[in-house]
Order: sequence, then C-alpha cells, then structure tokens
Amino acid sequence: MNAVTVQLGDDLLVSPLGFGGMALTPVYGEVDPAEALRTLHHAVDAGVSFIDTADIYGGGSNEELIARLLKERRGEVQLATKFGLVGNPSAGYTDIRGDAAYVKQAVDRSLQRLGTDSIDLYYMHRRDLRVPIVETVEAMAGLVQAGKVRHLGLSEVTAEELRAASSIHPIAAVQSEWSIWSRDVERNVVPAAAELGVGFVPYSPLGRGFLTGTVDASTLGSNDFRRNIPRFAADAAGANQGVVAAVRAVAAELSVARRAATPAQVALAWLLAQGRKLGLPVVPIPGTRRADRIDENLGALALEFTAAQLKTLDAAADAVVGSRSADPNWVSQGRE
Ligand SMILES: NC(=O)c1ccc[n+]([C@@H]2O[C@H](COP(=O)([O-])OP(=O)(O)OC[C@H]3O[C@@H](n4cnc5c(N)ncnc54)[C@H](OP(=O)(O)O)[C@@H]3O)[C@@H](O)[C@H]2O)c1
Repeated sequence: MNAVTVQLGDDLLVSPLGFGGMALTPVYGEVDPAEALRTLHHAVDAGVSFIDTADIYGGGSNEELIARLLKERRGEVQLATKFGLVGNPSAGYTDIRGDAAYVKQAVDRSLQRLGTDSIDLYYMHRRDLRVPIVETVEAMAGLVQAGKVRHLGLSEVTAEELRAASSIHPIAAVQSEWSIWSRDVERNVVPAAAELGVGFVPYSPLGRGFLTGTVDASTLGSNDFRRNIPRFAADAAGANQGVVAAVRAVAAELSVARRAATPAQVALAWLLAQGRKLGLPVVPIPGTRRADRIDENLGALALEFTAAQLKTLDAAADAVVGSRSADPNWVSQGRE
C-alpha cells in the first residue's frame, strides 16, 4: 500500500488518490478486458489502491473484473462497492432499492461476484425515496455487525440525509460528483461532511473526461452515457470549452517533475486543494482505461496553486453551461 494514506471517517485508511473502475466495463466507450485488468494491476503497483466499483456497473461484470485483481491482491486493496441501483448504467437504471431485504440480498451478491468475504466501504448508491434513509442505514449497519462490510458510505445524499444517517451509524465517506465544473455539493453536503468528520470521495473528478480537453462531445458513441448529460449536448459543450481553456491555462503555468502539468493533474489538484482549505479528507477517484494515465494523474499530488490560479479556476466554474444530470432527483442537488 502507499506509504501515505488518508483517513476517511474514524479509521478507514486509503491511498490519497483512488481509482474509479466504472468505465472498465463499457459506459464511456468500448473496453479491452485484458487491458482493463492490466490497468487495475498498474493502479495498485503505483499506490492507487482504493478501488471503486458498484454492483450496477456492467450489470455485475465490473465487480467480476475487480474480483480478478482481488484474487491475487486482496490484502493490498481498499475495496469500495455500492448497492441500490437496479439495471445497467449504459442502458439506464430501472429502479432504486433501499429496503432492508434488498440491502441484505445485494451485499451477498456483491461478495459473491467480488470473490471476497468483506467489503471495506459499502455505499448506498442512490437514495430510495420510498424508504426512510434511517431504515436503509440500519440495514447497512447490520452488515457491519455481520462482518460483511467494514465501513459505510453514501452517494449523492443531501446534508440532511447525511445527518440522519450519521445518527444511526458512523459514515466514513460521502461519494458525490465534485469537480471544477460540478460545485453544487459545496453549498451544503461538503460543509456537513467536514462538520461530522465524514470523508469526501469526489466522483467524476475529471468531469467525465471533459476537463482534460480530450473529449469531443460531438463524436461520443451511441452507447456513451455522456450523451444523456445536458452539459455534453452540442451547444453546452461548445460553451464549456471556456472551462477547459482555463484549466489548460493554469496547467501551462505549472510543472510536475520538471514537465509541464496537464489539465487532468490540475483538475485533481484543485479538489485536493479544496479539501486542505476545508480541513476535509478528500480522495478523488478518477477513472481511466489506460495505465499511463494513472501515473499522470498521480502527479496531481505534487501540485499547488497560487491565489491567482485558484481565482481563474473559480471564474471558469461560474461560467459552466448545462446541468450535471438530466434528472434533478438523480443527484443530491435536486432534493436540497
Ligand atoms: N457514485 C456515483 O453515482 C458515480 C457516478 C459516476 C462515477 N462514479 C465513480 O467515479 C469514477 C470516476 O468517474 P468517471 O469515470 O465518471 O469520470 P472521470 O474520472 O472524471 O473521467 C474519466 C474519463 O477521463 C479520461 N481520463 C482519465 N485520466 C485522463 C487523463 N490523464 N487525461 C485525459 N483523459 C483522462 C478517461 O478516458 P480513458 O479511459 O480513455 O483514459 C475517462 O473517459 C467512476 O469510475 C466510478 O467509480 C460514481
């Protein structure tokens, strides 16, 4: 494991940058499974050992892929997975389940697919609005007691939901979208997490690739999930080139190991800087199919910004066009 760790909640120690495994099964384009497994091994070799998956990714096949890594290296990995979404992300989810019976079934299915006997961090992926959150969290707490899960997490919850959940059982981390172009969580959820001693795991920290300047929204494949997101639509994506330009401009002023910094490094370092400013443990989980990009992304840990650079990035964030989800209830923002 990485010599340096970050503590989420009371005692979950993870690498300072995690790895998001979602797109290792098709959601942002096709994937070569052999390369995906090599990329996972490379992540752990490089010290990126906090690995994120979910039962819905690839309709279960993403957890099965992670199992192939765990088979050889379970002791080196801090494993996070999620339950609650029914369906497949590329085809769309069909239901959200947070009832106690479902929670019990879901964990057993995940453990079986992952080929392990415990999950380090188990997240509720989305809130089932038909079920009081305390009921879902009580069921999750039962999994900790049963030794199937070590720590609990929540994805896309509001500050109020986080407080209610924390009254039932300690929550180690909230995982929600947070990046230079997705800052709504800063209003309520992030301050609540800081106050409650809950860590924050920003998902899509590279803006689903957009902030790196390598995504051409007009050429996304027909099964690319990003086609459903309003800010990737033609007009919005055009207008949002402004934020990419700002990230590039800041990258051009910085260097990592004597090489020019990259937009991906700037996007990740910006999140780490937010965490330092707020006294909040922040562990972004960028995803990539390519091993070399893991090394590049790790360079973010060495970057520091001037006040002027932070101002440039803030101004760019204020100018973002289009929402981060077509369905406002899909994300915490819609329920606040
Ligand atoms: N809780 C939730 O509801 C939720 C929702 C979404 C995601 N997540 C989690 O968060 C993780 C990360 O989010 P994400 O995959 O949506 O988005 P992301 O990490 O913001 O961006 C991923 C995209 O960026 C590209 N990329 C990565 N590093 C790069 C670099 N250095 N230069 C240029 N491009 C780079 C990747 O392309 P290549 O593959 O071609 O490198 C990929 O398409 C997911 O894997 C998943 O575990 C959770």
